[in-house]
Amino acid sequence: MRDIIIAGNWKMNKNRQETKDFAEQVAGYSTRLDLPAVRILIAPPYPFLCEAISITENSPVAVAAQEVSYRHNGAFTGEVSAAMLSSIQVPYCIIGHSERRQYHHETDANVKERMQRLFEHQITPIVCIGETLGQRDAGETAKVVLNQLQGCFAGIEPADSGKVIVAYEPVWAIGTGRTATPQQAQEVHHLIRQWFANNYKADIATGLHILYGGSVRPDNIMELLSQADIDGGLIGGASLDFEQFTTMIQTAADLIKYRTEQRNAPSH
Ligand code: PGA
Repeated sequence: MRDIIIAGNWKMNKNRQETKDFAEQVAGYSTRLDLPAVRILIAPPYPFLCEAISITENSPVAVAAQEVSYRHNGAFTGEVSAAMLSSIQVPYCIIGHSERRQYHHETDANVKERMQRLFEHQITPIVCIGETLGQRDAGETAKVVLNQLQGCFAGIEPADSGKVIVAYEPVWAIGTGRTATPQQAQEVHHLIRQWFANNYKADIATGLHILYGGSVRPDNIMELLSQADIDGGLIGGASLDFEQFTTMIQTAADLIKYRTEQRNAPSH
């Protein structure tokens, strides 16, 4: 059974004090919850990563960066390298988010390079892919998603492919309040897992965590997480609010408990 990942992508939100308060609260909450099968991540802005890491250090909460440069180091004003993230012990990093692709012209080829930089520093990449509304309406979802996988993972070794987390985030569902139906999401998640089985190995595909992102909220997360190939959520707006974020963590905990009971129930 794969654990469930509840990841909060804060984007360009929260100041230093708000980050401190939230990190303290969520660390306390998840320590009390004590549920190893739910992985909790928060992705604050760069200036607050160090502080968030030290606040959550002895708790089940892990910290993710929202981006990394595809270059090693040097004269690249404004960029942050994987080596820098590693030096402050950042364990996860989001790459290829549609907002980065849209506003900063990121491509699958440089998402792959970012992934390589992260592997060099033992940081787990959370690789985002997903189609636009126009592509979905044109019936191109599968083609687009498979092309993105091909582009992002071309040349990535099997040993490394097993270390990534994939986030399927239909662009039309991000920040719009419009969520993919659980069936629409499941269909694409299944396709992604199948791609890993075909291009790498069955056990890599089975172990792969595929998160859904795009207007995940407390009122729709249970239905999404109940799908066979949805292993968690990459959550923007609803992750900024402590009540909503912890409600979603609790939902994941309830689902894990239910699945464990089902598995352990005597069969007749
Ligand atoms: P949203 O953002 O939950 O606000 O739609 C998700 C994301 O962009 O990761």
